[in-house]
Amino acid sequence: MELEKKLTTIFNTFQTEHTFKRFETFNSGHINDTFLIITQEDINYVLQRINGTIFKKASDVIENKIKITQHLSKKGIQTIRFIPTKEHVFYIEDADKNLWNLSEFIKNSQTFLKVNSNDIAYQAGLITAEFLTQTSDFESDLVETLPNFHSMSFRFQEFQEALVSASKTRKKQAQKWIDFALLNKEKMMVLENAINQKEIPSRVTHNDTKISNILFDSNNKAICLIDLDTVMKGCIHFDYGDALRTICNTAEEDEATISKINFNIDYFKNYTEGFLKNLASNISKQEINYLPISIQIMTFIMGLRFLTDYLNNDVYYKTKHPKHNLDRASNQFTLVQKIRQQQHEINSFVKSTYMSVCH
Ligand SMILES: Nc1ncnc2c1ncn2[C@@H]1O[C@H](COP(=O)(O)OP(=O)(O)OP(=O)(O)O)[C@@H](O)[C@H]1O
Ligand SMILES: [Mg+2]
Repeated sequence: MELEKKLTTIFNTFQTEHTFKRFETFNSGHINDTFLIITQEDINYVLQRINGTIFKKASDVIENKIKITQHLSKKGIQTIRFIPTKEHVFYIEDADKNLWNLSEFIKNSQTFLKVNSNDIAYQAGLITAEFLTQTSDFESDLVETLPNFHSMSFRFQEFQEALVSASKTRKKQAQKWIDFALLNKEKMMVLENAINQKEIPSRVTHNDTKISNILFDSNNKAICLIDLDTVMKGCIHFDYGDALRTICNTAEEDEATISKINFNIDYFKNYTEGFLKNLASNISKQEINYLPISIQIMTFIMGLRFLTDYLNNDVYYKTKHPKHNLDRASNQFTLVQKIRQQQHEINSFVKSTYMSVCH
């Protein structure tokens, strides 16, 4: 009842003509608290509390989201529509200093926690590329809300620091993957080097392109990307590589049984076909060249972050048991190895698909 009262009060600060009836909680979110608000008039809304621990300045997060969604809406592209408050801003602060925003609920939509068909993978590729294409002419600035989020050199620096302070026991447990990380540093730096040398351009990216951040309609057609909290400037490889890291892993991200971890090449192919179909006219030759390696790189960087957190005694990721972060690191690094085994096929598929959609 307390929560309902609180949600009603917050909902009423926004500019809607509808009356709060009841709420439901969305369970899929790991970061924010998301509630479905059902009104007397049967128009639904999504009310969301932004996680103030992860985002140091939640108002910047909301500002980025508003800018991007307004840019898309102006072009007639379906996206989340945020509702202003009666004070004409797009968020309100509660008594605990948390920020809340309200958006229209997209009717008859669904999300998937896992990809279970080639068609869903294809749709995910299509809609992610659509987002990248339609934001490529966005000219104003975005705040870098998570500095160094995908920076390999920064993640290596954190890793090196963790190595210095880690306990002997944890270092010993993790030795195999510490060696793996160090051995692969140079190879895994190629994308960042290309960014620094301006070989590949900086553009608007979503930065959290997992499948559960895509809304689908009831016919399983992708509607739009949601969860725009991490929208910043980046390179398309972050979105492409991270999507495939999550979509093509045949196991859960923390699966400890190595033999269950594989790279689903069919989902990769279908995703890539959709992705390149909607991005072909909007992607440079150099960007194409780095797509295949970005899958390994984005997987590796996650492995490195989990390994670092294990060495730091689990200060960042929530863990259920002492080896949880080590299991996650070993999972991601194993996936890197699996991707490598299929790298030739990946390279030639990206190349031939690009050629076929361009001609
Ligand atoms: N505009 C919308 N219309 C319909 N459903 C929505 C909308 N926005 C969010 N949802 C639903 O709410 C869920 C959580 O939203 P969102 O992904 O933004 O939260 P999150 O906590 O940041 O998620 P996560 O941490 O899992 O990435 C979505 O999976 C989706 O089911
Ligand atoms: Mg989400």
